Amino acid sequence: MQVQRIVLNSRPGRDGAPVPENFCLEEITLAPDLKDGEVLVRTLYLSVDPYMRCRMNEDTGTDYLTPWQLSECVDGGGVGVVEASRCSTCSVGDVVTSFNWPWQTHAVMTGSGLQKVDPKLVDGRLSYFLGAVGITGLTALLGVREKGHINKEAKQTMVVSGAAGACGSLAGQIGRLDGCERVVGICGSDEKCKALVEDLAFSASINYRRGDVPAQLKESCPDGVDVYFDNVGGAISDAVIEQMNHGGHVILCGQISQYNKDVPYPPPLSERTQEVLRSKGITRERFMVLSFMSKAEAAIWELSQWIKSAQIKASAPIASFHLCYFASYPQVLETMVSGLENMGVAFCSMMKGGNIGKQIVKISE
Ligand SMILES: NC(=O)c1ccc[n+]([C@@H]2O[C@H](COP(=O)([O-])OP(=O)(O)OC[C@H]3O[C@@H](n4cnc5c(N)ncnc54)[C@H](OP(=O)(O)O)[C@@H]3O)[C@@H](O)[C@H]2O)c1
Repeated sequence: MQVQRIVLNSRPGRDGAPVPENFCLEEITLAPDLKDGEVLVRTLYLSVDPYMRCRMNEDTGTDYLTPWQLSECVDGGGVGVVEASRCSTCSVGDVVTSFNWPWQTHAVMTGSGLQKVDPKLVDGRLSYFLGAVGITGLTALLGVREKGHINKEAKQTMVVSGAAGACGSLAGQIGRLDGCERVVGICGSDEKCKALVEDLAFSASINYRRGDVPAQLKESCPDGVDVYFDNVGGAISDAVIEQMNHGGHVILCGQISQYNKDVPYPPPLSERTQEVLRSKGITRERFMVLSFMSKAEAAIWELSQWIKSAQIKASAPIASFHLCYFASYPQVLETMVSGLENMGVAFCSMMKGGNIGKQIVKISE
């Protein structure tokens, strides 16, 4: 069987920004016979994620991520359907997912490494298993619950950076549902700002590419900041932390503004920001969703119910995202592009803010 796959062609150059040419499309032949325990899967959807930028380096800077190797097939989150099986736990027609799905149109995988998912949980919108009802949703929900210390009585203000992205757009909505009085999102365009307030019910939004972030924060958060869901790090986070209240909590989810730089994770903070954290007794513990997988099943159920009941809302399509079409039905924000050949383009676009909600690549029907 002839299948297409994406291999790592080169590592990012000196400025650190990935380009689509770092990836290359190839055709290979899959061996016709399955061995015991193996399944043949057809890929439906693949995920592109910020952590993948670290896998493009020879040294990922973390102990839990392995680097992608040059000329070898790239992998990440994927969902697909079983087309043939020699594994007792997988049947033809099962929908399955994995964090290590090869960027291939079809693949032979070990059945025991796949997780079976129930399409009814997402009303058949299988791409949600890579987003709001998958690791992205878990990151937002468990990040808020484990590190956010939200207390309904306390009338807290929450700020989310990367707020129009996959995790951020969910984290802000969850903060609101869990009881924050005010939820303010920071993101990179006026259209995203509009979607946050008008479609996702954020209290206010700030475009960090425009104007003075500290002044806009002061205006949007008159009572200071109690909880900060940090997806980006760098100057934006320094500005938020500066305006946090005593005893506040930073959910250290990610630091995407630093991923193209050659720094360890989490990147070092300025003296000033360290001093603010210390003097105000603000917690800032690293959050890793994979450390909380014992809570995943219940959390996935909760997310799926919120989506079915439209408590987590959708956004209307935004015209200027030409590459993408939007799955704004029924409730979740997604940016989707089609075709395995567009994996590199979609990844690089997401790293520069070309997405709203989860960036997905559709590989087959
Ligand atoms: N801790 C965990 O277990 C865990 C799990 C999953 C993800 N994460 C982290 O969560 C964060 C969000 O991931 P995601 O999958 O939801 O991606 P995402 O937010 O959907 O996409 C990345 C977004 O980052 C923003 N961005 C890019 N460069 C930026 C910069 N220099 N400054 C500010 N914003 C920038 C862009 O939006 P704008 O238009 O707003 O710039 C872009 O849309 C990442 O830091 C990721 O590493 C952590």
